[in-house]
Amino acid sequence: MSSASLKATPSSETPQLDRVLVLEMVRVTEAAAIAASNLIGRGDEKAADAAAVEAMRAALNGLDIDGTVVIGEGERDEAPMLYIGEKVGLGNEGAPRIDIALDPLEGTTITAKAGPNALAVLAIAENGCLLNAPDVYMDKIAVGPGYPEGVIDLNKTPTENVQAVAAAKGVKPGEIIVCVLDRPRHADLIAELRGLGCGIMLIPDGDVAGVIATTNPETTIDLYMGSGGAPEGVLAAAALRCVGGQFKGRLLFRNDDERARARKWGIEDLNAVYDLTDLAKGDCIFAATGVTDGSLLQGVKRRRDGIMTTETVVMRSASGTVRWVKGEHRIHR
Ligand code: FBP
Repeated sequence: MSSASLKATPSSETPQLDRVLVLEMVRVTEAAAIAASNLIGRGDEKAADAAAVEAMRAALNGLDIDGTVVIGEGERDEAPMLYIGEKVGLGNEGAPRIDIALDPLEGTTITAKAGPNALAVLAIAENGCLLNAPDVYMDKIAVGPGYPEGVIDLNKTPTENVQAVAAAKGVKPGEIIVCVLDRPRHADLIAELRGLGCGIMLIPDGDVAGVIATTNPETTIDLYMGSGGAPEGVLAAAALRCVGGQFKGRLLFRNDDERARARKWGIEDLNAVYDLTDLAKGDCIFAATGVTDGSLLQGVKRRRDGIMTTETVVMRSASGTVRWVKGEHRIHR
């Protein structure tokens, strides 16, 4: 049996991903982040994304896994690499069958403009355990760990959700800090939150980091609210499966084409509200390496001595272990 294999937990019989994959995933996101870092501040989103994609794909293809991209760069006809359905890994006999949700560069515009919080991200789970989310918008709400289950509810208004979180936290609604993507479509949400006196942390891009920020008390962010990419919702959910917290998401469709794409990926109830385990179930591993500095991670740094440094967070849901990995890369070797 290969070292990177699926194991059964004797006590629960719940299959778990091999722990060895934790370090392998660090290598994969590090490779993508380093490649993208060459393009930080160069004003070329496509080139930055392409560099990250190529590096992530090469790293995945060196692993002894039988991997399938379930969330990737797009559908086969629109993405030459890491398209949905693409097989990655060496695929040797006995290699574990793994589903992969990836975003080699989460924050292409951020990278092009040298802004904060660009990440190279992926999540893996056993075959069939990640929602095949189409590339449409998702209405999202997230809160960090320590709150009673059900404190957030996408069927309630922003005001009701803020009030519920404030009551559970023992503070006034006006003391709640909400992270929101800075988009015109969020004007009503922002106005409603301002009416409550909430602090609003507007982010230019990068809602994977925005959702994860709710789990880190140092950010002071209590809630994440608003719509962003559905694939990013699955990635963020995988992270929250590992560290705790609550997340609800509902797909948003702008036209029949988007509805048809959802159906094509097996989604029948187009109005469903997804919980964490609907998005990422079973054992999963989440890894992210900073491309630019942000609330979650330091970005890639090029030192004068030729060494490049990276910072990565990698977590696993079965154990809840979170590792912060600082890498020094002697690129010239
Ligand atoms: P990209 O890396 O694909 O540019 O995504 C950045 C991002 O901000 C995501 O974090 C977020 O989910 C999505 O874009 C929001 O979409 P939009 O920019 O259309 O509002």
